[in-house]
Amino acid sequence: MSEHNQDLSNMKQATKFINAGAHPDPSTGAIMTPIYQTSTYVQAAPAQHKGYEYARSQNPTRKALEEALAVIENGKYGLAFGSGVAATDAVIKLLSPGDEVIAGNDMYGGTYRLFSKVFARFGIVFKYINQSDAENVRKAITPNTKLIWVETPTNPLMNISDIRAIAKISKENKVLLCVDNTFATPYLQNPLDLGADIVMHSSTKYIGGHSDVIQGALIMNDADLREQLYFIQKSCGAVPGPFDCFLAIRGIKTLHVRMKQHCENGKIIAHFLRNHPKVGKVYWCGFEDHPHYDVAKSQMRDFGGMMSFTLKEDTAEAATKVLTATRLFSLAESLGGVESLINHPASMTHASIPREERIKNGLSDGLIRVSVGIEDAGDLVEDLKRAIG
Ligand SMILES: Cc1ncc(COP(=O)(O)O)c(C=O)c1O
Repeated sequence: MSEHNQDLSNMKQATKFINAGAHPDPSTGAIMTPIYQTSTYVQAAPAQHKGYEYARSQNPTRKALEEALAVIENGKYGLAFGSGVAATDAVIKLLSPGDEVIAGNDMYGGTYRLFSKVFARFGIVFKYINQSDAENVRKAITPNTKLIWVETPTNPLMNISDIRAIAKISKENKVLLCVDNTFATPYLQNPLDLGADIVMHSSTKYIGGHSDVIQGALIMNDADLREQLYFIQKSCGAVPGPFDCFLAIRGIKTLHVRMKQHCENGKIIAHFLRNHPKVGKVYWCGFEDHPHYDVAKSQMRDFGGMMSFTLKEDTAEAATKVLTATRLFSLAESLGGVESLINHPASMTHASIPREERIKNGLSDGLIRVSVGIEDAGDLVEDLKRAIG
């Protein structure tokens, strides 16, 4: 069990991120958690073991990561999964047919696909609403509602939901609240401190930070909830391998340093885009005139390096010209790595959302998403300047 490391709970973020889950290896003193590449563990006699029976259920490298995840999100328990969607999948498996989930109408396309194409077939009912106004969430609750799923900031339109207000509604109605904290990361936002029951991450993104691992995470405070989710983790088996856990532990150690730079570069790129004569709208939650700026400011420590924009000529053709003309921003799915990426949500990350649905919720065919990396900001500006023309 990955209990919160009490010694770190009063420390500042930088100290937490570097030391979370780190205990010198008892057999050698190795300062870095070894990669325990094993599927099973020898027992002295039946059921006489050292707490490790079979690696789907327990692995020491994964245990160190899970402890680290709990520490960085100010939670008691962490669980690591083979991908972000596997972590989401585990949360939905807490539910039964007939149960209702209130989700956002602007969120990662893969989450929408998992909900609408997989779990809807098993009788779980999903309602997609605009969660930027917490009252919409209250209105959508019925006696069958069991879970509120919030992504904030949203991918790709950077809408913000008020976690505190929605947590209050979830508690009043005895409904679970899970927050996908992938875009903000624990550096910028800690949903458990704001009243959420579960935090979910695609660790593939900023937590890993180097575009070399697919992984997911759940963090929670409630011991019963942890037992239920651990039961699902071991029963369904979507666990990450030990090498991937090692990479995520390594990523966490520099998360604060990387995020600081992502925020700094993000601010520069957002303002550059906004002032460009050929750019239409820029979606970034750090602008003071962003419709949810006050909420963002009250629950986030800074605004990050994710943003989207349209060109004044808001067409897929015009967007494609920019998407294929950058040299530093690589055209690729994913986000949150040290290198800058550029993406076309309509045909890439959000292609699984029906076009009418997408357009209705503000995601146009010409929308361009950027994940601003931590290269030199001046070089990044030059790259976009040349590509936009
Ligand atoms: C906000 C968000 N949540 C969840 C996921 C899914 O994570 P993974 O790709 O690690 O399965 C992604 C992936 O892009 C994402 O951006």
